[in-house]
Amino acid sequence: MTTVVVLSLCFVSVSAAKHDQKLRFGENGQFKILQVADMHYADGEITPCEDVLPSQVPGCSDLNTTAFLNRMISAEKPHFIVFTGDNIFGFDATDAAKSLNAAFAPAIASNIPWAAVLGNHDQESTLSRKGVMKHIVTLKNTLSRVNPSEVHIIDGFGNYNLEVGGVKGSGFENKSVLNLYFLDSGDYSTVPSIPGYGWIKPSQQFWFEQTSARLRRAYMSKPAAQKAPAPGLVYFHIPLPEFASFDSSNFTGVRQEGISSAFCIKLCYAGGFGYHAYGKAGWARRTRVVVATLEKTEKGGWGAVKSIKTWKRLDDEHLTAVDSEVIWSKSSSGSRRKKQINGA
Ligand SMILES: *[C@@H]1O[C@H](CO)[C@@H](O)[C@H](O)[C@H]1NC(C)=O
Ligand SMILES: *[C@@H]1O[C@H](CO)[C@@H](O)[C@H](O)[C@H]1NC(C)=O
Ligand SMILES: *[C@@H]1O[C@H](CO)[C@@H](O)[C@H](O)[C@H]1NC(C)=O
Repeated sequence: MTTVVVLSLCFVSVSAAKHDQKLRFGENGQFKILQVADMHYADGEITPCEDVLPSQVPGCSDLNTTAFLNRMISAEKPHFIVFTGDNIFGFDATDAAKSLNAAFAPAIASNIPWAAVLGNHDQESTLSRKGVMKHIVTLKNTLSRVNPSEVHIIDGFGNYNLEVGGVKGSGFENKSVLNLYFLDSGDYSTVPSIPGYGWIKPSQQFWFEQTSARLRRAYMSKPAAQKAPAPGLVYFHIPLPEFASFDSSNFTGVRQEGISSAFCIKLCYAGGFGYHAYGKAGWARRTRVVVATLEKTEKGGWGAVKSIKTWKRLDDEHLTAVDSEVIWSKSSSGSRRKKQINGA
């Protein structure tokens, strides 16, 4: 399954714990995120591809997943890479740490900052969920965290947030104009009466609400106080129960919240990335790109986020881009509507 959720909310910056505030919009006023779902990495070259045409079986392995990731990084040159869980397929991974290292290797080698959340298969090898997350945070260039430092008790591993600053030298250089949230949606239900996958727990929701409220206050305060909250993107693996009707466990959702609690949800199927993962034979593996673009201020500098656009790329000869759409724009923020796009 795959789920990332891009949540466009209302919050912004000035967070309590100042971790490496490394993320920032580029001089071209853009911030581009490459989202990689379900790598399902196992033992590399000896792990065969699943769900490919019989003619594609020979010579197809986890290394094809690596090759796809390398191609995407060079083609899109993202500012940030997010891995949304099932990074490894634990049952087939002999050594979890090794598989994780191999799975993230292209991101590490690219020197692009990256982050990851857990899926429901990451803990099936030699490391527990906590162990997997603790290993991930030691890897180079990652901004992942095991859990927020300001909270003592929270369910799961890999709950954290990151702020994306405005352009250096602009009036928004010290504000988080785009907020990123990462949540652990668990693996499987432990409640006998509720079979199936896990879900985001109240402790996580509480942290999320507190954090987003703090960011919102900061964004709407001086200097450069804004009238509406900044957009946010939320990444996690297993869909929220309220998304259930959209089919699936394997989508990328984009969720927008206005100042009111009424929110507008946009779901976008992210697509399977890994070759040792479920797919459809004859159907290209795919990945999602999200680009946020800033508006120009009256004085000609870069301001707040104007729009967020997304598209998918297929792992075919030309890395064909498909399904391009605008998922958020400034004028629509705060509007009370609910929308579903491409929900499945
Ligand atoms: C999507 O989720 C369903 C369970 O809801 C699962 O059976 C299926 O294998 C998943 N597909 C992918 C591509 O992850
Ligand atoms: C996997 O990679 C090999 C080596 O580059 C390539 O020949 C093969 O076509 C790839 N398979 C698929 C299904 O993309
Ligand atoms: C941002 O913070 C730095 C360091 O505190 C300060 O020098 C700079 O003037 C601030 N920029 C804006 C636009 O407020």
